[in-house]
Amino acid sequence: MKRILVIHGPNLQLLGSRQPAVYGTASLPVINRDLKQAAGQHGAMLTIVQSNHEGQIVELIGSAKGRYDALVINPAAYTHTSVAIRDAIEACGVPAVEVHLSNIYAREPFRQHSLIAPVCRGQVCGFGPESYRLGLLAALGLVEAAQTPQAAPKPTNRTARSPRRRPASVRRRR
Ligand code: DQA
Repeated sequence: MKRILVIHGPNLQLLGSRQPAVYGTASLPVINRDLKQAAGQHGAMLTIVQSNHEGQIVELIGSAKGRYDALVINPAAYTHTSVAIRDAIEACGVPAVEVHLSNIYAREPFRQHSLIAPVCRGQVCGFGPESYRLGLLAALGLVEAAQTPQAAPKPTNRTARSPRRRPASVRRRR
């Protein structure tokens, strides 16, 4: 069973009533319920944590190795400020997917830079609560790929000394 840790950063407990024009009307419990349902359909187990505290998020990430196969994280405002969260993700070595409800690149300049993105395997933003679902699917794909043995290279009879025979159409007639 794939184990995924979902982290919601600061102020995301207010979803539903917080700037609905930007973040939508779905509350965090509704988003979490839908995520758990999607995880269940893919045979994954979710642990979901919301925290307003940078240190708590750092500690969670720091203890993720060996407990979780991937992280899905919306660092919220810490996206733009937290070297500590960035370093924690990089240090823990667990593949992470960054998600945002809003399209941070279409917003104020200070939101257009993510300190977290370079240490994540990818980012999904701008799709409202759907960003989380897509982020979860991406994380599950990463876990799947890591658990699937690489396809063995096809055996070949050719060696470095036996050049490939040209097809008949290009062989010269004598
Ligand atoms: C956010 C975008 C951040 O800039 C903001 O501080 C948030 C939410 C998003 O999901 O769109 O709190 O991460």
